[in-house]
Amino acid sequence: MAENVEDFSVQPHELSSIKKVIGVISGKGGVGKSLVTSMLAVAMNRRGYHSAILDADVTGPSIPKAFGIKEKATGNEMGIFPIQSKTGIDIMSINLLLQNDTDPVIWRGPLIAGSVKQFWTEVIWSDVDFMFIDMPPGTGDVPLTVFQSIPVDGIIIVTSPQELVSMIVSKAAKMAEMMNIPIIGLVENMSYFKCPDNNKEYKIFGDSHIDEIAYKHNLKVLAKLPIDPEISAACDRGLIEELYDAAWLEPVAQILEEEMEEIK
Ligand SMILES: Nc1ncnc2c1ncn2[C@@H]1O[C@H](COP(=O)(O)OP(=O)(O)O)[C@@H](O)[C@H]1O
Ligand SMILES: [Mg+2]
Repeated sequence: MAENVEDFSVQPHELSSIKKVIGVISGKGGVGKSLVTSMLAVAMNRRGYHSAILDADVTGPSIPKAFGIKEKATGNEMGIFPIQSKTGIDIMSINLLLQNDTDPVIWRGPLIAGSVKQFWTEVIWSDVDFMFIDMPPGTGDVPLTVFQSIPVDGIIIVTSPQELVSMIVSKAAKMAEMMNIPIIGLVENMSYFKCPDNNKEYKIFGDSHIDEIAYKHNLKVLAKLPIDPEISAACDRGLIEELYDAAWLEPVAQILEEEMEEIK
């Protein structure tokens, strides 16, 4: 580690076992970061790995809803237990701790970063192969603190063609370099819409130039996801595990699986 970089990392709970930690980031909210996080956890779980999701997007937590989780997390003197989804994905989110999950979280940055740190230090994550972190959007103070606290093995950047993708990718690449964390690649969400009537693909938000941008930064475009009303309906109904049946993220799942083989 460089001399001028302070080590802010915190230890996980002593009963936790977490093999790989993947951070999912985006430039702003609403681009599908939580959806991609959820689908990745589902994809790895289906491949026989034990997946977990740490919902670090404290001011916009949407993971419990996508999985239809209504119960609250419990704990004992040892620590806090994540809630297990229907197919066995371990989940922790601020919404599982708040009395009333429609209450807004109006905390300032340090408190938000502090609660994410607690999801790492005080939650007992048992035998997790892949933990996916739904990061707070952007490259500001809060995501930075989270990255400094939790030993993330790789980052996936989610973009949509509506954004200033070039700027977002530049910033994310700089942050990753500062933190010394490899970027696994980019996922472009809402890339196109495939019309069910004629099977033609329409670029609703225009061309994103994602391939050029990725090339410029020496990054991979891992997947381009369509706009799919059925997938947003599945999230709304808490049925992401049951109703996500596309192979959109298989290239990412493949890369993650290969990384896991290396450490076996
Ligand atoms: N490819 C997609 N097709 C249809 N709806 C989508 C798609 N990606 C995201 N959505 C919907 O858009 C909204 C924002 O997505 P979400 O994953 O919550 O974004 P973020 O976590 O980046 O704020 C959600 O209602 C989600 O279901
Ligand atoms: Mg979200």
